[in-house]
Amino acid sequence: MNSRQQLIIDLIRDVPDWPKPGVVFKDITPLLEKAEGLRAAVDELCAQAPGPIDVVVGMEARGFIFAAPVALQLGAGFVPVRKPGKLPGRVIEQQFSLEYGHETLTMLHDALWPGARVMVVDDILATGGTVAATASLLKQLGAELVHVAVLMELGFLNGRKALDAAGIDSYSAVVVV
Ligand code: PRP
Ligand code: MG
Repeated sequence: MNSRQQLIIDLIRDVPDWPKPGVVFKDITPLLEKAEGLRAAVDELCAQAPGPIDVVVGMEARGFIFAAPVALQLGAGFVPVRKPGKLPGRVIEQQFSLEYGHETLTMLHDALWPGARVMVVDDILATGGTVAATASLLKQLGAELVHVAVLMELGFLNGRKALDAAGIDSYSAVVVV
């Protein structure tokens, strides 16, 4: 583990029994509050990006925090994936399963183009549902998913395995087991 990764781990706070009893919430706000924490997170998310990236896609809400500075750092544009009812005009949609029920993610129908080299950035990889649904949106528009980077992977939820099985290569700055 490098010093950036150690700093990231040190600045993510465990909040027991949030948002419900028995869940330990990984709170990134202490990391964001410190300039060196935010810098380490953005640098680490950019570290494995392959070749030129046209667009960085971030998912509402916490993905936005990291995806936009990563895009700036890589000289790429930024495209938001949003929850339903937020984007103006024609959108494409992808539904995915949560532990209980379903969630839908949306993207503007003309946000990407065939062959666009796209990197996906989010804060947490848990079950992998959010990243997989985003990958499906990219596929609908013919864009090329060249890299996925997340700040923290919750290894015990096997999101990485799910993404590997779907042929999606992902990089996690830090992994919690
Ligand atoms: C959280 C987190 C990731 C996602 C990971 O988003 O920010 O986007 O869950 O879970 P998964 O791998 O099982 O899909 P959530 O929509 O809960 O909250 P947010 O709007 O604060 O980002
Ligand atoms: Mg999220």
